[in-house]
Amino acid sequence: MSEKLIIFDTTLRDGEQSPGASMTKDEKVRIAKSLEKMRVDVIEAGFAIASQGDFEAVQAVAKAVKDSTVCSLARALDKDIDRAGESIKGANSARIHTFIATSDIHMKMKLRMTPDEVVTQAIRSVKRATKFTDNIEFSPEDAGRSDIDFLCRIIESAINAGATTINIPDTVGYNIPHQFGETMRELIERIPNSDKAIFSAHCHNDLGLAVSNSLSAVLNGARQIECTINGLGERAGNTSLEEVVMAVRTRQDVFGLDTNIDATGILAASRLVSSITGFVVQPNKAIVGANAFAHEAGIHQDGVLKHRETYEIMRAEDVGWNQNSLVLGKHSGRNAFKARLTELGIDFDSDEALNDAFARFKTLADKKHDIFDEDLQALVSDAQTESSETIHLSFTQSIC
Ligand code: KIV
Ligand code: ZN
Repeated sequence: MSEKLIIFDTTLRDGEQSPGASMTKDEKVRIAKSLEKMRVDVIEAGFAIASQGDFEAVQAVAKAVKDSTVCSLARALDKDIDRAGESIKGANSARIHTFIATSDIHMKMKLRMTPDEVVTQAIRSVKRATKFTDNIEFSPEDAGRSDIDFLCRIIESAINAGATTINIPDTVGYNIPHQFGETMRELIERIPNSDKAIFSAHCHNDLGLAVSNSLSAVLNGARQIECTINGLGERAGNTSLEEVVMAVRTRQDVFGLDTNIDATGILAASRLVSSITGFVVQPNKAIVGANAFAHEAGIHQDGVLKHRETYEIMRAEDVGWNQNSLVLGKHSGRNAFKARLTELGIDFDSDEALNDAFARFKTLADKKHDIFDEDLQALVSDAQTESSETIHLSFTQSIC
């Protein structure tokens, strides 16, 4: 049995912070149910103090979800912790996630607090959260730009106060994979009580490195990843759930870990989030993009037809697609063309007929980028019509 990597989904909280991605309570419950079905370990349902609507949405998710832990976010303030605690009262399994900024720039310019005050506030909030649950997550916000000695100090105090998960956020997406991994390793090594908590990575994608940074953290001891469906999230988004889950699963040889996720639910969850938020998934998006398992190049299509693994490292069915698709276009070869026609129930009596149809297909593909099944059907039926007209004409001529 490989060690487990906890999947913490924050589509409903950080994901909703994408400008234009707000969701209603009912929509959040639908997404939460789809995450639960996929066996996500922890669902961050919202930021209870943010508004009455957010509070009610967290409450509704906490009631609807039975198998995943439901988490509510709170700043390190008494009123936030109490509201978060209130919102998760109905949950089977509940977590409070509290955070306070620890980078110099955030402490000076945003919080206007001294480092000592920040530590005191963190300890107070974690202790207050223990009144509601013993499952408490603490995040030093902007950890990616914080002083490592200060991180060690505040995290040790948070664990002593009762935090069971320590989340390391790269809030502004500034880190580089080897560096973020080093930070994770150094924190786990240096903090004397680090064995009393699970360490977690929470990465933003401003430099397109959220997934890489999260995976680097895992290689250096993190055992929880915070992520969102389709990588939705503040600014350039968060770590994408589908990408980290499939990276860890596909490269067991590297990570030696697995998740509880039923990956066959990934595509359905992706489509649900996309339809609710109106955020379209780009066709070339890994795992869930329309082209993620589509092959167009003739050499690739030929390889996949002969042996799938020549060009595929995952099975499309394993993440919820029906199967891979061979997209026919001008780069496609004769084998892929023939295979698709066979799937459509169209066979040729002779190689000559096949070659003829293939030549017509190539002419069409030069004019039209993607050739759909309807185009193929039309192309073949045109050919049949023409050949029967030819027979008909020669018959007429012979009568004459
Ligand atoms: O990015 C961030 O720092 C956050 C915290 C609330 C964990 O989302
Ligand atoms: Zn975040």
